[in-house]
Order: sequence, then C-alpha cells, then structure tokens
Amino acid sequence: MSFYSQELVEEIRSRSEIVDVISGYIKLQRKGSNYVGVCPFHNDRNPSMSVNPPRQIYRCFSCGAGGDVFKFVMEYENLTFPEAVRVLADRAGVALPEQDNSREARQQADLKAQIMEMNRLAASYYYYILRQPAGKQGMDYLLGRRLDQETMKKFGLGYADRRSSLYQYLKSKGYGDQILKESGLMQVDEKRGMYDKFWNRVIFPIMDIHNRVIGFGGRVMGDGKPKYLNSPETRVFDKSRNLYGLNLARMSRKPNMILCEGYMDVIAMHQAGFSQAVASLGTAFTTQQSSILKRYTNEVLLTYDSDEAGVKAALRAIPILKEAGLTARIIHMEPYKDPDEFLKAEGAERFQERMDQAESSFSFELGVLERQYDMGEPQSRTAFFRALSGKLLEFEQGIERDSYTAAAAKRYGLSQGQLEGMVRQVGEKTGGLMKRAAPEPAPSGQRRRKREDSTLRAQRLLITWMSSGERMFRNVRKYVEPEEFTDPLCRRVAELLEEQQAGGRLNPASLFQYFTEEEEQKQVAAMLQDTIQALSGREEEEKALQETILRVKQNYIAWQTAHRDPEDMEMLRKIVQKRREIEKLHISLD
Ligand code: UTP
Ligand code: MN
Repeated sequence: MSFYSQELVEEIRSRSEIVDVISGYIKLQRKGSNYVGVCPFHNDRNPSMSVNPPRQIYRCFSCGAGGDVFKFVMEYENLTFPEAVRVLADRAGVALPEQDNSREARQQADLKAQIMEMNRLAASYYYYILRQPAGKQGMDYLLGRRLDQETMKKFGLGYADRRSSLYQYLKSKGYGDQILKESGLMQVDEKRGMYDKFWNRVIFPIMDIHNRVIGFGGRVMGDGKPKYLNSPETRVFDKSRNLYGLNLARMSRKPNMILCEGYMDVIAMHQAGFSQAVASLGTAFTTQQSSILKRYTNEVLLTYDSDEAGVKAALRAIPILKEAGLTARIIHMEPYKDPDEFLKAEGAERFQERMDQAESSFSFELGVLERQYDMGEPQSRTAFFRALSGKLLEFEQGIERDSYTAAAAKRYGLSQGQLEGMVRQVGEKTGGLMKRAAPEPAPSGQRRRKREDSTLRAQRLLITWMSSGERMFRNVRKYVEPEEFTDPLCRRVAELLEEQQAGGRLNPASLFQYFTEEEEQKQVAAMLQDTIQALSGREEEEKALQETILRVKQNYIAWQTAHRDPEDMEMLRKIVQKRREIEKLHISLD
C-alpha cells in the first residue's frame, strides 16, 4: 500500500539506477552482464548477491533475499515502502507532492527516526550510569554473574537507577512529553504523571541487525516482579521480527545458530565463545524469526530450559523451524537449568560436548511421546507404537522415513520389518484421510512430490520467459492464459505482467510491491532473476518453449479434471476438447 501514485513511484524508480543505489551500500563488481557483491542480509564472505541491470533487480543466491531497488532500501535501512520511496526520491531529486498523505508518511518516518534517536540516547545514558557510583549495584550484580567488561561492552549493558533520571535526561535534550510517550521508554500514571519505565534494573539494549537500538530488556535487582521487563512494541520495535544477539551472531561464521531462552543465556554463551547464540524476545518463537534464521544457517540448536516449560517451548519451536527448512537439534543441559548455569558450572568445553551430542528433533519428540505411555504395560505399549507409526507417516515415504524407522526400531528393540508392518497398517487405516501417506501402489509421496516439483518448475520457468521481454511475452501469451498457471504466485505474476503489457510496458521490477510476504518476494525474485539458458537458434528456442508450455497446459488440464464437478458434463466436454488441442499444439515464434 503506497501513499504515492504509481506514476510517481515509477518516475523515482527510473531515476534510481539499481547498481548505483546498491553501490552506495555495498561494494559491487562487474561480472558479465551482472554485478555481484557480498550480501548484506546474511553472514557471508562470498559475493552471492547479484544485481541485474536490465531488469533492475537484485537477488542473493545464498539467502534468497531479493527484490527491486525499493525493496533493497527497505531491507537495508529497515524502512516501510513509503519511507523507502522518500529516501530514493531525495536521492534522485524528485519532488514529492505535498499531499496530506505524504505529510503523514513523512511524520511517520520522522517519528521512527526520533524514537531511534531517543533509544540511542537512552542506551548511552544507561551505559554511562552503570559505570558511575550510581550504578554500583548493577555493576556488582553483573560481575557476580561472571560477566567481564568486554562482554558488558559488546552488549552495551547498562543500568537504570532512579525513577525519573532518564525522563529528566531526555527532557534536557529537548524531547516533549508527547514524543516521549511514543518511545516506549516511559510509564504514564494519572497521579504521578510520566516517569521511567525502567528503574532499579540492569539494562539489556536490544539491537537490530544494523546495530541500532530498537528496544530494551531490564532485569530487576533482587527478587522484585516482574523479573524481566521488556520495552513495548513501538514504531521501531517489532518483537516477532527481531532476535536478541542477532546483530553479533550473524557475523559469527559458525555452521549453526543456537536459540536460547533468555538475555543472560545469550550473553553467557557469547562470552564462552559461542557467538552464534540468539534468543527470541520474551515471547514465543515466531515463523518470521524462523525465516530470518534460515538466511544465516541450515541448522538451529535449541537450548531451552530443562524444565517442563522449556520442553513445551522446544516442542512449539521445532515445527516452526522445520517449516522454514531448518533442521533442529536439542542441546541437553541437565542437571543444570539453562546454558548460563551450565557454563558457569562446567565451562565451554563441556558445553561443546553437549552440542556435539545434541539430539535430533525427531528423537526428542519421540522421548516426549514415550513419557505419555506406560511402556511396561502391553496395551499402553501398543498404543505408543501406533502413535509412533503415525509420526513416521508424517515423513514422505523414502530414504528419510526409512532411516527414521530404522532408528526408532532400534531404539525400541523391534526389527525394522516389524515396525514397517505397523506403519503400513496404520497408514492403511488412515489412508482415506492421509492421502500422501497412502501405501503402494498409489504414487508414492516421493514420486508425487517430484511431479509437483516439475510442473511448478515449468510454471516458474515460463514466467521467467514471459518477463524477459515484450516479444517473448507476446509469443507465450498467444498460447497460455494467466489462469492456466495453477500455482497462485505464478498466476498472480502472469496477471500483473499482462496488466503491464496492456498498459504499454513490461516492468518486472515493479512487481515486488504487490507481494508483501517475505517468502513470496523471494520466489518472485527468483523467477525474475533466473536467466534463460542461451539457446542456439530459433528452432531450439521454439522446441524448449513448446515443452514448457505443454507442461504448463497439461498441468492445468489435470488440475481442472481433478477439481471439476462430476455432474458437469459441459466441463468434461471442454476438457476433452482442450486435451486434443494441446496434442496438436505447435509453437512458432514471431
Ligand atoms: P528466565 O526466567 O528463564 O530467566 O527467563 P533467566 O534468563 O534464567 O534469568 P536470570 O538468569 O534469572 O537472570 C528467560 C527469558 O524470558 C523472558 C526474558 O526474555 C528472559 O530472558 N522473561 C522472563 C520475561 O520477559 N519476563 C519475565 O518476568 C521473566
Ligand atoms: Mn538463568
């Protein structure tokens, strides 16, 4: 949703050469017809980011980040779309209209900048106090928890002493009550007026990946409640999209990330050399956080507290991690409660051993399941195996399921054949409901998955083709309707390209603004950035295109067949006719 007209956005885009803009942030080098550089959105040393001048888009082949020039500025500077428009308009010298809307957008952007600045001032104020006599209690506390000065500095730790010291400090810097209220740093009370949210607490500044302070956590001195107090969400602080310690962890160059429960755990881990530790922010782990982690790693090690709440939290986090394509393993810390205590008692080497022995998420889940049954009692034991079989059925048939079945059989003293038999039985019983787990001879999950992949690939390839130029678009469009894309994302892109073409000009880069989800944007970037392999002549090009178009059309027919109303004979007639047409289809390029 933009505050600005499409024409204006396009005007700004046309004056914001993507290579120039991105060069202002990172170093780019020419490579063939593209430019490459080190991706600023994940931890990397290699030039995985490629910028494509003809299409005016960028994409990182390693973490999948990608988009147009606006998206780059949004991501890099942590801005909303209208804010990025303003930045680029300023840069290009394009005047923005003084409408109410844009004034509002400007105010919002100013507000954000002001809150960031107040956070910065607050952080340095707390930091200063910690090192003064007034901060002695805080300093003693942190030293008592075995943190050294270097660690305290690295994390910018501070101390909030009295009830209104920060309030007075920020007032002295010229901030009024209204803006102070928006900062999340103050508490407002009918009787007492405004005063500091944090006092008598050690302060943990929370930073975004560009090291800007976006919020705070504060631990009370002594046994007060609540133990930890966190900043509320503000215009700059979105708890579900940030992770404590990520600004440091993303530079760690470790093969995994470690997800902890609390501030102190992260800090103790970093001090012990495990600089890949992060924590979610006093809330449950979210899907957004999961896909952020996926940018930096393929494996996440969990170190949740070894109590019931910790197990629950881990069970909740595992599917979220898996969904993002991450493998999860669990680090056990018994007999200690959390990594902080473990490290204090046993040291880093021992922790590394625990890391090496981290349990696979599947095995961890099994252990939890097992505890719900009385394994000494035959009936309960059988019930457990049924539940286990159900779990195994969740895996696609194939190598993965086989290896988990083998592991589980071994664990419970069964032969692999026995367990496979049970899995098959359970599979048959639930077969009607769980299609994908249906036993042979129906197409195996693996094979079906392959087929899905290949039709999806064909659809995406065709989009890449269509977006490659006007001539190609017209050529493909003669044979394929947008609705023939069964993948919703491909269909939407095809529709948008069609609109653009009708409006007179293909403009693939401007498609990004229509997709708000991170995952969608990545996929769109992938489609637009892919280049068609050079084909050695018109005949070969026609042949390749024919194949892809046929795939896409056949897939559509298969889809229609599967979704048609069995009573609808007219539809059936149409499908049959179409099938015949496709058989005769011959693609010829203009
Ligand atoms: P824990 O209670 O496990 O704290 O909370 P901890 O890290 O072991 O703390 P210490 O060692 O006693 O200082 C873990 C995390 O849960 C959130 C905080 O983010 C904390 O780091 N939390 C906990 C809160 O947000 N509020 C609370 O009152 C308690
Ligand atoms: Mn603790």
